[in-house]
Amino acid sequence: MNRQLIVGEVMHLDTLGKQTIVFNSLKSAVNVLERRTGNYSGRPRFIMAQEILNQGLGMVLMDYGKPWRLRRHAAHEALSKTTVQNYHPTQEKEATILVTALLKDPENRHRHFQRAGASAILSILYDYPTLESANDKVVEDIDRSIHWSNQAASWTFLIEFFPWMIHIPQREAFEPSAQRADIYLRLFDRVRADLASGGDRPSFSASLMQNPDRYHLSEREMASLSGQMYAAGSETTSTTLMWWTLAMVAFPQVRRRAQAELDAVVGRSRLPTFTDAPHLPYVRAVVREVLRWRPPVPFGVPHAATEDDWYEGMFIPKGAACLANIWQCNHDHAIFERHLDEEGGLLPDPIETNQEGHVSFGFGRRICVGKYLANDALFIGTARILWATTIECVLDENGKEVVPDLDAFTDSGVFIRPAPYDCRITPRFPEVVSILSEERERFVD
Ligand code: HEM
Repeated sequence: MNRQLIVGEVMHLDTLGKQTIVFNSLKSAVNVLERRTGNYSGRPRFIMAQEILNQGLGMVLMDYGKPWRLRRHAAHEALSKTTVQNYHPTQEKEATILVTALLKDPENRHRHFQRAGASAILSILYDYPTLESANDKVVEDIDRSIHWSNQAASWTFLIEFFPWMIHIPQREAFEPSAQRADIYLRLFDRVRADLASGGDRPSFSASLMQNPDRYHLSEREMASLSGQMYAAGSETTSTTLMWWTLAMVAFPQVRRRAQAELDAVVGRSRLPTFTDAPHLPYVRAVVREVLRWRPPVPFGVPHAATEDDWYEGMFIPKGAACLANIWQCNHDHAIFERHLDEEGGLLPDPIETNQEGHVSFGFGRRICVGKYLANDALFIGTARILWATTIECVLDENGKEVVPDLDAFTDSGVFIRPAPYDCRITPRFPEVVSILSEERERFVD
């Protein structure tokens, strides 16, 4: 993708006085953003996306300092490797609903991935009831406002270059910002009302509310933190599932090997669960490989230096946006195809990738705080889809397989997704449909 534009390991761009450093190799990105994280945990100034649209409260674009550390601590506790196990029942349920929808209506698979991503995260954050469709009003409202932030974060607004414009009223910016704060507060208030009436259902927001002395965040700050989790966690996960599906269509030998593993470990009389995960290294390796192959956020989120610095003769001024070209880093031979050992066991991936086998979750202290939740959602989603379905190419009029173009994509400004293509999704064996509906009957909301 745009390989011809990549001119060196480290690039310095000066756009109307705005300094941007781009790290195009794994070595340079890790040496600076990971190994010097003490100096590179800040964020550059985002006037429109952070100061105006998020009213300074958004954790993702917040500069390094105490307000960020408080939020990071709260988010980390709620999303640590062990805490995320509390969300396994929700993720298993969402995966089942997703597979059922894919079999029923394969054409709209991208909408099903979006519904599943949104529904799982809303129930984890707010104990919100399962969404029946991606056209739910709450999702539409939030997605509209996130779209604004994403556009703004890509620095297309003039104000980023002429900060004095902040004094000019920005009508189109203030409208969605007010709306968004309102949606997040409404969702947060639902949880408060439930707790007040004696409810004790766990959720990210409930744990923030129940521990005010531990996290030191105001009501508005807590509501905004939960909202940021939705913004950061929903589309990233669903976009990865879209690329994973394309990979299954294009590489049937990989799909078959993963399904052989599922047949051997799980059998065909029940769906895979989280307890099977340690015995399904190949299924998990495929998820890692897809995250490496097609990182949903190919340029990550920029870090900023707190102090002036030098790297291999290049001056990096304080405050400069330091951007890792994650796409390019992931295609570095040092981390290429190194997920499995010779016996097919999952290898501890290279240390410089935080043992993920890719750098799609970012770097240093700013590394994605939702990565355990994301990895679990992707594991159970892909394991259940593989167990239940056969995903394959469509055939042309001569019965020849039509392999989709792996390099065609659509760009939403922040995320890249596969360009539209046709595929077939059918039950892998006759009992699938009845086992799925039995599993659905077990759910209680
Ligand atoms: C496949 C799924 C995901 C991918 C690829 C992904 C990727 C990323 C990346 C690249 C960053 C920036 C890291 C950096 O600055 O170096 C990030 C930050 C973040 N992610 Fe994720 N993410 C995913 C899922 C999630 C989920 C599920 C959540 C929460 C529920 C989440 C919450 C966050 C937050 C809050 C930050 C900001 C961290 C900070 O600034 O301290 N992400 N993510």
